[in-house]
Formats: sequence, structure tokens, C-alpha cells
Amino acid sequence: MSHKRIGFATRLGAIAATVGSAVGLGNIWRFPYEAGQNGGGAFLLVYVLCVLLLGIPVMLSEFIIGRSTHQNMKGALQTLVPGKKVYRLAYICITGALVTLGFYFVVCGWVLQYLCHAVTGEFSGQTSQEYGLLFTRLIESPWAMLLWTWLFMAVNFVVMLQGVQKGIERIAAIMMPMLFVLLAVLCANSLLLPGAHKGLQFLFNIDFSHLGWHGVVDAFGQAFMSLSLGMACMVTYASYFNDETSLSRDAFTVAGLDSLVAIMAGVMIFPAVFSFGMQPEAGPKLVFEILPAVFQQMTGGYIWAILFFLLLLFASLTSTISLSEIAIKFLIEEHNLSRKKAIILTAVFSTILATLCALSFNVLRHWTVYNMNLFDLLNYLASNVFMLLGGLGAALIVGWLIDIKVIQRQLAHKGQRSPRLERYLIVCVRYVAPIAIVLIFLQLTGVI
Ligand code: PHE
Repeated sequence: MSHKRIGFATRLGAIAATVGSAVGLGNIWRFPYEAGQNGGGAFLLVYVLCVLLLGIPVMLSEFIIGRSTHQNMKGALQTLVPGKKVYRLAYICITGALVTLGFYFVVCGWVLQYLCHAVTGEFSGQTSQEYGLLFTRLIESPWAMLLWTWLFMAVNFVVMLQGVQKGIERIAAIMMPMLFVLLAVLCANSLLLPGAHKGLQFLFNIDFSHLGWHGVVDAFGQAFMSLSLGMACMVTYASYFNDETSLSRDAFTVAGLDSLVAIMAGVMIFPAVFSFGMQPEAGPKLVFEILPAVFQQMTGGYIWAILFFLLLLFASLTSTISLSEIAIKFLIEEHNLSRKKAIILTAVFSTILATLCALSFNVLRHWTVYNMNLFDLLNYLASNVFMLLGGLGAALIVGWLIDIKVIQRQLAHKGQRSPRLERYLIVCVRYVAPIAIVLIFLQLTGVI
């Protein structure tokens, strides 16, 4: 079914929305703790390689699928590869997006709670241990977890129901650069802490002894999560791009900015971790334990803390809006639901998942698989299984199934083809990405 689509008014609008989706908790909460658990520098190296050899090519593939058809993932695949069951990949992507929403909303709830703590001045005059307790108290209280998670979800879906997300994106276009500047200030502050060099050494010194296969898998998953890949999200955004923009320039800009924000988050966190004598392997709680201590030692920390959590909340909201939109658009365009019904259905389903995740730290803590509670499990499955599968699908489709002329036309800029870019993309999506991702799956399933 073809629907009239309104493109982004400007190239900047398109980039801002795409960066808004990519930059979020993945960069600021997830990247530091993943790097912390996997030895720092070696993880960063694999992550950067992964962005260059897999991330950007898969992003370009999703852009090509979206812009050449101006349709959602399923419709696009039916147009590009007619008569085959390839369109079923869309179901994997949508399941992945819902799984991601399940745990992501819980972390957004944490950010909201921390914003409140910042406003009420909760962070001042406590010891590092007490910051640890603050977080533990939150996750161990089922009501607090549900309250903050649901509150954030309500904001997300009310924004979508009111159709004001364009407004949110416009505000975010101002907030995101502010977040960037604030991160720079926090990096400078961290670098001035006593013993900061130990943190930098941890983040930039390449030592493979702490990485292992497990860390490589995590670096792959993190790159896909951070760039919003393998979920049809970039397909959807690109379906709104106008035909004149250069896809490669957009892909490199988005991936570059996204990685820069992740690395800045690392520079903000690790010097503080070492300076305050905390553990880089702390896991998902890392950022929530360190940041209050950082703000407490800063001049004007009260204001910085409020500003930071507020900006992070907006960055998270643009990501959850784009994640929700994947399922919503699919329901509207493929199942002919009204927008309101599609939003309600997505909200109900993600509320069930997020509720279970919020309770997995307390009431349901005994529901574990391989030592992971439901939150950890969904977090792991989303990036290391669904996103990689979705990304593999997009790479194989562009590498092997669609007409090469479509690729050439989409990569051309102002009628000018770029053979080097075409070669880079084809080699990566035909060989590098599929081989790397299949190796990862063999490793995950214990075959190698
Ligand atoms: N990339 C977002 C982040 O880093 C998460 C996300 C994944 C958003 C997939 C949309 C789609 O936080």
C-alpha cells in the first residue's frame, strides 16, 4: 500500500532527527558500563572497527532500502525483492524494537528519578557508598521502579498521541547540542580530577587480556544499539529523506557524532571512577553511581546535575519515540489501524514488558536465565541477537538481492557516482558483515 509521505523540510532536519534517534542512553549509560566490564581500550578499539566495517555499511543499507522505496521496512522489502519471503525480516526488526523498549523504558525511569533527586538536592553531602545505596534503594523498591517507568512511558505515549513529536524533535534539536556542550564541560571537569590519568589509561590503553570473545560480541551489539541499527529504524527515517541528500555524508555524520558522544561519555566517567576509587566493572549501575559523586564535587554541581539529567531525558525521549514509531508505523501502514489504535496497542504491549523488567530487580528477581534477570536478558537479546540479525538481513539484502543499479543510484550524489564508496559498501555488506555476524552467532551458540 502506498502512503503519501512528507519529507523532512531540510537536510538539517533529517540529520537532527536521525541523530536524535541514535544518541541516547546507549551512548551515555550503556557504552561506559560495557567498556568498563570489557577492559576499556580493547573494547573501544573493537567498537570503532565495528562502526567502520559494519555499522556504517549497515546504516547505508538501511538508508538505501528506505529512501529508494519511501516505505516502511515490510513494504520496502516487498517492493525491492518481490515474490520472496524476505519481507519477514521486518517482523524480526519490530520484535527487536519492542524488546528494546521493554528495558529501555526502565532506564529512562531511572533518569527521571535522578532528575528529581537533582532538583531536591539529594546528591549533596553524601559519600560514594551512599550514592550506591541510593541506586540500590531505587531498584529494590517495586513501587518506585513502576512509578518512574510508567511516568516516563506516559510522557512518551502522550507526546505521540498528541502528535507533538515534531515539536519534541524541534526542542531536541536545541537540547542535543546543549547536551554535547555539557558533556564537554563534564569531560574537562573529570580530566582535572586527581588521578584522572588512570581513567584515560583504562579507556585508551589497548589490552586484550580483559576482552575475550564475550567482549567482542558485546562491542558488536553495542555498536548496533548505539547507531539504532537492525530495527528498521533507519529504514523508516530514510523513507522520509528527500532524494537529493547524500546518503553517505549523512551516514558518516550520524555515526561520527554518535561515536563521539559515546567516547565523551567514557572520558566523563572513567577518570571519575578511578579518582573516587570505584569499580569500572560495576555494570548497568555504573553511571548512576558515579555521576552524583561527580556533581557533588563540582562548583555549581546542583545546577549542572539538573541540566544534565534534563538533557539526558530529552535525548532518551527522542530515542524512545523513534523506537515506538517503528511498531506504530508498521501497524498503521500494514494493518490499516488508525494512528490512535496503533499507539495504544504499542503502549499496552510495551507497558507489559517494561513492567516485568522493572519488577525483575525486586519481586521477580528469581526469574533468571543464565544468571540474567529479565532486564539483563532483554538488554542482551536486543543488541546481541535481534539487532545483529536485523543488521545481517539488511546487509544481505543490499549485498546480494537488490539490483545493483538501485545501490548506484542511491549512493550517487548530484548525479555523480562514487566507485570507491560503492566498492566499500559492497565488500562490507556482501562479505565482511555477514561473515563477522555469523561468527558472532556461532560463538553465542557455543559452536566455536
Ligand atoms: N540508539 C539509541 C541509543 O543509543 C537506541 C535505539 C536503538 C533507538 C534502536 C532507536 C532504535 O540510545
